Amino acid sequence: MDIIAKIKEASAYIRSITRAVPNIAIVLGTGLGDFASNVENPVIIPYGEIPHFPVSTVEGHAGRLVIGGLCGKTVLVMQGRFHYYEGYSLEQATFGVRVVRELGCSNLLLTNAAGGVNVEYKPGDLVLVQDHINLSGISPLRGRNLAEYGTRFPDMADVYSREFNERVAAAAAEIEVQLRRGVYVFMPGPQFETAAEIRMARVIGADVVGMSTVPEAIVAAHMRMRTTCISCVTNMGTGVLDAPIDHAGINEVAKQAESNFTKIVCKIVEMS
Ligand code: HPA
Repeated sequence: MDIIAKIKEASAYIRSITRAVPNIAIVLGTGLGDFASNVENPVIIPYGEIPHFPVSTVEGHAGRLVIGGLCGKTVLVMQGRFHYYEGYSLEQATFGVRVVRELGCSNLLLTNAAGGVNVEYKPGDLVLVQDHINLSGISPLRGRNLAEYGTRFPDMADVYSREFNERVAAAAAEIEVQLRRGVYVFMPGPQFETAAEIRMARVIGADVVGMSTVPEAIVAAHMRMRTTCISCVTNMGTGVLDAPIDHAGINEVAKQAESNFTKIVCKIVEMS
């Protein structure tokens, strides 16, 4: 079946359950999934019920859409995302973002757990992503262009909306939530990086490293969505500290950042 037909079937299914058009879609990263419990009067749709939707296989990713009210707006929360390292193609990994756009939503907040590359960062810090480096060598746009959604050679100059980011930064200052600004480098994983890879990431201008987000941001840019991204630094990159990195620790630190995360996400939702 053609990918566009699949996107349309998935969105038609969601519409058959709720007619709500979200002001913003929020993709929750590792350890940040509990945030979905803030959604009021939620309509919950497990990914497994939605035609053609992949099912997330990672611990800490629930795998459902939560649609409802938040901070005075209508939000669609993707509680759980799909990663390349799980074995999905990038077309599958970004399917949810296509569906969100098909539902008529043009604002996107991507969130993730990330390793700190910038030595001034510390675990628990929140970073407003300004730009990314795609070190994976792969693109979700490879193959036939979906001309209905966007152009063959999309511009990446504003992949994270500068206008949106400036407003987010101002709002964070107002509510006294420390928000760093940085560049996210995408590594395909699932292995964490070597110390040499982290040193390289620093040299080429990265501040945080992770295994998600960039494919979704590229697809969103293809569809001219207004995207912003918050990374939660859950650990320092390999070699920065003399401490092992593990998935459980990442979930733990993400939970500790929850209060500031919730405050800033509410501000972002209000702006959508
Ligand atoms: N590297 C890659 N991805 C990550 C990390 C990391 O150190 N921490 C959380 N996600």
